[in-house]
Parts: sequence; C-alpha cells; structure tokens
Amino acid sequence: MTDLKRQLGEAVEAAFAAVGAPAGVGRVTVSDRPDLADFQSNGAMAAAKALGKPPRDIAQAVVERLAGDPRLAGVDIAGPGFINLKVADAFIAARAQAIADDPRTGAERLAAPRRVMIDYAGPNVAKPMHVGHLRSSILGESLKRLYRFRGDEVLGDAHFGDWGYQMGLLIGAVCDENPAIAAEVARLNAAPDADLDQIVETFETVTLADLDRLYPEAAAKGKADPDYRDRARKLTAELQAKAPGAYILWRRFARVTRVALERDFASLGVTFDLWKGESDADPLIPAMVEDLDAKGLLVDDQGARIIRVARQGDKRELPPLLVVSSEGSAMYGTTDLATILDRKQSFDPQFTIYAVDQRQTDHFEIVFRAAYMAGYAPEGALEHVGFGTMNGTDGKPFKTREGGVLKLGDLIEMTREKARERLHEAKLGEDLSPEAFEDIAAKVAVAALKFADLQNYRGTSYVFDLDRFMSFEGKTGPYLLYQAVRVKSLLRRAEAEGVTPGPITIGEPAERDLALTLDAFEAALAEAYDKKAPNALAEHAFRLAQAFSKFYAACPIMGAEPAVRSSRLALATTMLRQLELALDLLGIATPERM
Ligand code: ARG
Repeated sequence: MTDLKRQLGEAVEAAFAAVGAPAGVGRVTVSDRPDLADFQSNGAMAAAKALGKPPRDIAQAVVERLAGDPRLAGVDIAGPGFINLKVADAFIAARAQAIADDPRTGAERLAAPRRVMIDYAGPNVAKPMHVGHLRSSILGESLKRLYRFRGDEVLGDAHFGDWGYQMGLLIGAVCDENPAIAAEVARLNAAPDADLDQIVETFETVTLADLDRLYPEAAAKGKADPDYRDRARKLTAELQAKAPGAYILWRRFARVTRVALERDFASLGVTFDLWKGESDADPLIPAMVEDLDAKGLLVDDQGARIIRVARQGDKRELPPLLVVSSEGSAMYGTTDLATILDRKQSFDPQFTIYAVDQRQTDHFEIVFRAAYMAGYAPEGALEHVGFGTMNGTDGKPFKTREGGVLKLGDLIEMTREKARERLHEAKLGEDLSPEAFEDIAAKVAVAALKFADLQNYRGTSYVFDLDRFMSFEGKTGPYLLYQAVRVKSLLRRAEAEGVTPGPITIGEPAERDLALTLDAFEAALAEAYDKKAPNALAEHAFRLAQAFSKFYAACPIMGAEPAVRSSRLALATTMLRQLELALDLLGIATPERM
C-alpha cells in the first residue's frame, strides 16, 4: 500500500486529466491549513492558464469527479480554486495498519537500485581533522545508510589523504628531529631491494603526538621558506617513487594516524566499507596519463601537463586540471581522477557522491569534467554534495578557544562531558550502573552533534552551540532520544501487564495526526534521497516525536477500554519503530532507558 499522499495524488491527477487538464498539474501536497484539510491541490490555477477557463470552474469539475471516492471524507474548494482534501478516518486507519504490519514502517524500496559509491570524511595523515571533516563524516554516514536502506548497493569510502605534499613535509620534519630515523631512512633508501612491508623498529617510535606537533611547524616553514618547501617536494617525489626509507617511514605515519582516526570515527558512529587512501590510486596513474595522452586530452603547459576543461558559456573561468606538475608529481586532482578509474575497475558505480566541503566545488567540477571527457564515468554520474561550515559565534569556521583546529577526539570528549552534566541535571540515568550511564551519555552526545548538524539543509552554515544542541527540549537530538526512551518504558510497562497491540482504529484528532505523520515517512525519505539532504528525514523524526507527544497527552493508553487501548498501543509501537529507524538513518542510536 503506497502512502496516502501518492494515492490521492493519482486520484486527483486522474480527475484533472478527465476534465482535459495537462498532465502533472494535479499535484497533491500536505495542506497548509491542517485545521481545514489534510492535503490540497493547487492544480486548478495552472490548469486555468492552459485551458483558458476560470480556475474555480475547473476546481468545481474536479471536485465533482472526486466526490464519490470512499477514501475521502470531504473535498471542497477554497479561495480562487484550491482543492482541499480531508481523508476518511477508516482509510487513515487502514494505512496506519499497513505501516504497523510492515517491517519498514511504510518505507518503499527503489524500483531501480544502483551501485553507489560514497566518498566521505576524507581525513588526512597527521593533519588534524577540522569541522569540515566532521560535517562530511556525519552527512556521508547518513547518506550511506539512507541509500542502502532504500535499496541501492552502497560502498562508503574514507578516501584517506595520505599521498600529497604534506607527506614530504612530515618525512623531512621527523628526520630533522631524530637523527637515528634520518640515518635509517638514508640506509634503506640506498637498498633498492628492501622489503617495503617491513616494520622498522626505529620508525615505530614515531607517535601520533609527534606528527601532530611537527606538522603545523613544518607546514608553516614550508610556506615561509622556499628551500624548505623544495626539499619537502623532493621528499614527496621520493615517497611516490617508493624509495624504501621514505616509503616505510610513511607507512608508520599512515598506520598511527589511521588507528586514532578509526577510534574517533567509531565513537561518532561512523564506519566505512572501504578505507582506501589516495596512495591506492597511485599505481594507476602512469597508465592513466598514457591513456589521457592517447585520447589527446593532455596539453603541455610550461613543463606541466594539464587538461583544459573550460566550456563555452561557463559563468566563471575554470582552471585546467593539473595532471602532472612541472616537478613530475601527481596532484590532488590527479589522484581523484585515478580514484574514479580505480572505483570503476573494482565496483563500477553508477553514481558517486562526494560529501565534501562546498569550498572544494571548483576542484570537483574540474575533475568531473576531465573524467567525462576521458570516458571514465558517464556524464552526470559524479556528484559533489557540498555543505556549508560549522561556525563559531564569531561567524567564522569553528576553532578552539586557543584559536586552533578542534580535534575530533577532543570534540567528542567535550560533548560527552556536557551530556553527563545534562543527564545529572535532569536526574536521568542515575539509578543505572556507571557503564550503562556512560553508554547513555555517549549516545546522547552523538545524537546532539549529529542532529544539530543534519537538521539544517546541508548547504546552510550553522553556529556551534553545545548548550543548545544538548538541550532535552526543542528540536534537538537529546529531545528525540528522550521521547523514544519514554515510549520504550511505556511499552515495557504494557508488556509487563500483558497488554498487547491490536487492530488500529482512528477516533481522536491526535490519533489521526499521528497516523498521518507516520504516513509521511516515505515522502521524507524520498526527498532526503533525491536531494541528498538528510534534513528532510531529521524534520520527519522531529514531527513524529511531536505528534506522539500530543497523542500521548490527549489519548490515555493504559487506562482506555481494551479495544482502544490495544489500538493506541499499536500506534505507539509503530511510531517508536519508525522513529528509531529514522534516527538510525541519521546515524543516531537510541538507548533502551535513561
Ligand atoms: N582529504 C581532503 C581534505 O582534507 C578531502 C578529500 C575529499 N574527497 C576527495 N575525493 N577529494 O580536504
């Protein structure tokens, strides 16, 4: 059984067609005036233009055709020709029952699933993650879950930044600080047959803290001092040529960083199917460059090799893709192009989403155009799903009080601390064991961060305000978890008393509203999917909690007579399942109690 909106949409569309209106005008939307109607259609206005008749006359003819439909309790005309539809209670009850009986609570499956690759998080070796990476992780994780849930075959890839100039900077900085490491690098570089997978004791002394400390200094020196920069570039080229010393040391950097990152991602409820690095695309580059050359796409430009991607009619001039720099090294864009090829060979995705900061829009436009020109992906199969920034109260991308980049691990700890405080204030979870309390605090923290992010349309920037994010009231993650936990405890009580859910009937307005809200799930999923915008789903979760809250206040459950009681219990059970499902698709887990 499809959702009410779509079913009514088809009926209204057919009625419009019968009076001669062009296809598509009869679109049905949720009513702007819920006090008057459940759904509405503004099609008479559009049809009036096409048919040259007054809109009210057209609306009248459409209404007459709809009048006998048993699914409708009322259909009338408002203002210049708005058609208002009120759904019959029995029909709402039947739909609610179908949702209750469906393990997916009314969510459909895609008719034509695709293989979809999602590129998100994009953390880098040594460079600390900033808020852009946080937003990417939250958005990408949600899209991965949503796309998979609707039926696509999805792979999520972390696209680890492990291969650029910053690697040369780090190799140099570590060697400068530690002569023993420098000597070992030199010794291994002179041994061309050295095993590249070996573990070298001296290198194992390098820790993440060392990299964190050395990288910012080295980056600053590289900016200020051309000689230092040249050396870093040379070391990068050495690494990319797999000089054993540079390469084995680099593997240590990548390993220590990855361990720490995976731990942080896990606490955030973010996981990847693939943890590929930019370095994994490197072996494909020589053949790719040859292929691009054979296709006549490469142009020599002052010693570098580029692809011109500008098109006639572009609003701004797009720079070319730099494929091989004048020093002969592969660039960020080269790696992205080779990664497209790599993914084509291993998974052949029909669609690829890059959940990356809006500030990289040009980069992706350039890479995508080059990929289409080279035939590495069909036109339109690559999409940059950009997002705005998370700002501090100063309106600039969020920084710590000391002005540094906030590290993900610190952010998580800070958020958990706030969650513990709030739980204590609200006297929640205090009767539980310390482990159980900590688990709840962790879930509340993740819910607060993720919901605060995902409730905004991704293109919008928002202000980081932990106090607001963490409130148990208002449109927040903790509020939604609290509502879900309340229902869980209600259901436990019902179970203990032997009360079971039964057939759904609709009597009270609050029952009606709750059922109509349950019905809107599929539309929210479709919108979030089509627009790559989980905020539609976040909005739905919030509306559901609100509708439940009103229902719970107006409609006693345990005290009602048996048939009503079991119907209401069925509504509550279904709402909880749908809410948990929606939250899960946002990447948010719900505790059992609080
Ligand atoms: N590592 C990059 C950065 O920190 C983000 C990677 C985004 N993904 C991609 N395929 N380029 O800016």
